[in-house]
Amino acid sequence: GRVAVLMGGTSSEREVSLDSGRNVLDALRARGVDAFAVDGIPALVDAIRAGKVDRVFNILHGNKGGGEDGVLQGLLTALGVPFTGSDVLGSALAMDKIRTKQVWLSVGLPTPRYVRLAKGDDVHAAARQIGLPLIIKPSCEGSSVGVSRVHDEAGLAEAVALAARYPGEMLMEQLVVGDELTVGILANGEGHTALPSIRIVPKGEWYDYNAKYIAEDTQYLCPGLEGEAETEIRRIALAAFIAAGCNGWGRVDVMRDRATGQFYLLEVNTAPGMTSHSLVPKAARQVGIGFEDLCWRVLESSLQ
Ligand code: DAL
Ligand code: MG
Repeated sequence: GRVAVLMGGTSSEREVSLDSGRNVLDALRARGVDAFAVDGIPALVDAIRAGKVDRVFNILHGNKGGGEDGVLQGLLTALGVPFTGSDVLGSALAMDKIRTKQVWLSVGLPTPRYVRLAKGDDVHAAARQIGLPLIIKPSCEGSSVGVSRVHDEAGLAEAVALAARYPGEMLMEQLVVGDELTVGILANGEGHTALPSIRIVPKGEWYDYNAKYIAEDTQYLCPGLEGEAETEIRRIALAAFIAAGCNGWGRVDVMRDRATGQFYLLEVNTAPGMTSHSLVPKAARQVGIGFEDLCWRVLESSLQ
């Protein structure tokens, strides 16, 4: 059947999605799939109405009609068009970092301490609760858009102003001092399986938008950990993915406290990046799944 590779859209991650999408399109075509590019949800609806779409490979990233937040997933479910990635519940929940944390905490999964910040809240009182250094971020964005690390009281106002530029709520979160790790999740026929972790070693202070997509000097170690620690990170990442109601494929971001070795879950990405800098392709390669195979497997999982 014909596969629409859905990319671009209107979110803050539009450019990342176009980059991911072109890679996926090339890979599927190389595998003989009758795949074509569609930019954004309105164009997809037109293509579906014209009877051109049998399945959707969704590589839209981001929020508010951006394609990763459950709205698109509800539309396609109602229309009976199969699609890659999580269904409505997992997509909507994972797009909301605050509520994802609430679910994880309710089942005993570790995540950094946080407070919800609404516009006009006393940010200094919140900071006393969390302790410096800390993170301020929009609850519903991706690719570190709108995220700041704050080291002192003087930095709070600017960080809040930046996060407030994005729709929805904000959160203040304890900064876990240690390693940034991520774990890709793939469907495996009956259930899901965790890929080897990746440890990210940015040249600058942290893995921000620049380190993610632009800089060529970010280092990636895969597997990111050894022995029991590697087993444990895969176990909690998979548990976090399932607890958030996700399915198909995704990527769970995790911090590891340098002093204690304790893991802290940050978020699930339900349409992870597939750019040449992106992480799921690197982890898949480590276990012998090349980029074309990866795209094929993700597409297959849309039928499960
Ligand atoms: N939100 C970006 C695309 C990622 O998670 O890879
Ligand atoms: Mg994200």
